[in-house]
Amino acid sequence: MSQLSSVHVGVVVIALMCYYMIFSNKSQKDNITELVADEYDYVIVGGGSAGSVLAARLSEDKETNVLLIEAGEFYDVNPLVSVPLNYLDLQNTTLDWKFYTEPQTASCLGLREQRSFWPRGRVLGGTSVLYGLQYTRGSRYDFDEWAASGCEGWSYKEVLPYFLKSEDMLIDELKSSNYHNTGGPMGVSGGEITEMSDLYLKAGQELGYEIIDYNGKDQEGFSKVQISVRNGVRESTGLAYLGRIGRRPNLDIALNTMATMIEINDKRATGVTYIRNGVKSSVKARKEVIISAGVVNSAKLLMLSGIGPREHLGSLSIPVKVDLPVGDNLQDHQMLLLFSSVNRSLTLTDSLVNSFWTKLQYNVFGKGPKSIAGTDGSAFYYVDEKKRGKSSAEIQTILISKYTDNNYFNIKEEIAEEYLAKNGDVEGFTFIVSVTRPKSTGTIRLRSRDPFDYPIIDPKYLTDQYDIDTFIGGIRVWEKYINTPTMLSIGANDEGMKLSFCLQYTFKSDEYWECIVRHLAFTVYHHSGTCKMGLINDPTTVVDPQLKVKGIKGLRVVDTSVFPSVTSGNTNAPVIMMAEKIADKIRGIDSVKVIRDNLPKDV
Ligand SMILES: Cc1cc2nc3c(=O)[nH]c(=O)nc-3n(C[C@H](O)[C@H](O)[C@H](O)COP(=O)(O)OP(=O)(O)OC[C@H]3O[C@@H](n4cnc5c(N)ncnc54)[C@H](O)[C@@H]3O)c2cc1C
Ligand SMILES: *[C@@H]1O[C@H](CO)[C@@H](O)[C@H](O)[C@H]1NC(C)=O
Ligand SMILES: *[C@@H]1O[C@H](CO)[C@@H](O)[C@H](O)[C@H]1NC(C)=O
Repeated sequence: MSQLSSVHVGVVVIALMCYYMIFSNKSQKDNITELVADEYDYVIVGGGSAGSVLAARLSEDKETNVLLIEAGEFYDVNPLVSVPLNYLDLQNTTLDWKFYTEPQTASCLGLREQRSFWPRGRVLGGTSVLYGLQYTRGSRYDFDEWAASGCEGWSYKEVLPYFLKSEDMLIDELKSSNYHNTGGPMGVSGGEITEMSDLYLKAGQELGYEIIDYNGKDQEGFSKVQISVRNGVRESTGLAYLGRIGRRPNLDIALNTMATMIEINDKRATGVTYIRNGVKSSVKARKEVIISAGVVNSAKLLMLSGIGPREHLGSLSIPVKVDLPVGDNLQDHQMLLLFSSVNRSLTLTDSLVNSFWTKLQYNVFGKGPKSIAGTDGSAFYYVDEKKRGKSSAEIQTILISKYTDNNYFNIKEEIAEEYLAKNGDVEGFTFIVSVTRPKSTGTIRLRSRDPFDYPIIDPKYLTDQYDIDTFIGGIRVWEKYINTPTMLSIGANDEGMKLSFCLQYTFKSDEYWECIVRHLAFTVYHHSGTCKMGLINDPTTVVDPQLKVKGIKGLRVVDTSVFPSVTSGNTNAPVIMMAEKIADKIRGIDSVKVIRDNLPKDV
């Protein structure tokens, strides 16, 4: 007994030491400031995925001074931020803006009030503090299509060096790949935590798919996951770009500070009005104002400042500075969670996750179930095979080694009761189907002139038939997948998807699946496009390929809102790449020459 407790004490001491080594954040606050000066060279609004990168890179030039304004607080206020597996528990907390869409008519029928819940980070590091950590760049076709649509400089070949610049590949077998790099700020680790990890790949091979690196030459196939995690700790951009640079006298970060207006004089952005501790002030930008407030709030801030659709601004009596289609072209990915139980203990049940061994494994070694976001496999594939080799894969599948039980998705109670697992100890996995290039687009509009009012978000999900047909095509792949020898051997089945509210249609008929998709497909959080980039003379664009707002000098937008079309995959890595690339443009340097010269010849 006494021997046991001394072992326990020893373990606890080691765990505490590791805890402080890994999670202690004191030095990371070096550049947080209480005092905001009157003037800076660059004022960046929003310290999210993109804004944190920009603040770090622009302040590398010692003679340039930079202010980063962030509405939220420091990311260490909630210790769960560090723990990958707990990412969903950060939603609907003080770190979250908690947006809801307007009630949808063609989709979200199974959600409360038919509204999709849109969590977004309100914290230093932005949504990269809440996100699901999957490291996915998108396909070459995404960027080549951007370039072809008039986004000069954004072809795959031109953006790849900036993906590489940001990367610190920690997975041994990928370190020497031409498509990966080491030494950048963002650590990338592997999954392979559950036994399911191998079974996912095996079943994929049985369906005829290859095992590939989805961030490599080609996206199509089944893969292990790549996640933005270092030593078991979430790699937000707040931590990776701003938390490790020490004190820089030329960088100020103002937290709990909300920008309410871009000041514009004679068609030039001259500064930003902000509210801090309830007091309104303003700060001048000698060179540029950069808006990185995210897809919802960047569009909102532009419109509040008189940059937006003339008629809409007129209806709220906002004087129009420049008439641009801000808030149009809202794009997103939706996911459908397809559940299957299994008949062996292979998956991340609550008992496993909460066990003493799992906690020890995590606290001491940064490994085990808590070191991943539940995702332990990935796949990309086509529904229409004729598109192979011409455009990106049409479906992204994310394989989560857990049968979802908590209702994080605003699902109506009676539907959640039937659809989600009754408790966290059900052995099972979730096969996500997500249409990578949906054709439905929506809008964001102001609700009022009050900067604290949330805008009207209407994604108009599933209003284009292609999106429904492609979803059903993806579900058909799942039906085959759970019937592979490997999946059958562990008892995979379709029982979990037999849901009463659609059983007026024959189970598994096209009509049945359409009903399920219209009820239960909801956001996978990749909203983008509301300040579209492209040719200056294209009436659908808001920013040019340098991300400069058309018709206003000294103003750029840098976040997922400028994506002309959403990438085929998760959006965090692409927006970091974008910030890296535009930072070089602003600084007038080419920091990736060496990387570019070493790219594979056939890229
Ligand atoms: C639950 C969830 C899971 C996700 N999973 C993944 C994933 O696995 N992989 C992946 O690649 N992507 C994922 N994403 C998407 C990805 O995280 C986002 O696309 C990305 O973080 C967006 O970056 P951004 O720079 O455009 O905006 P954000 O990171 O949202 O940054 C905007 C920042 O601006 C601040 N701000 C806003 N308005 C103001 C204002 N007026 N004044 C001052 N500051 C302001 C905000 O507080 C925020 O910090 C996920 C997202 C969510 C919500
Ligand atoms: C967020 O929390 C509020 C208050 O507890 C609750 O009413 C709401 O349903 C929650 N939202 C979601 C999406 O769970
Ligand atoms: C799981 O189910 C499969 C298919 O029904 C069956 O062959 C296998 O024996 C079952 N395994 C266990 C451990 O029950």
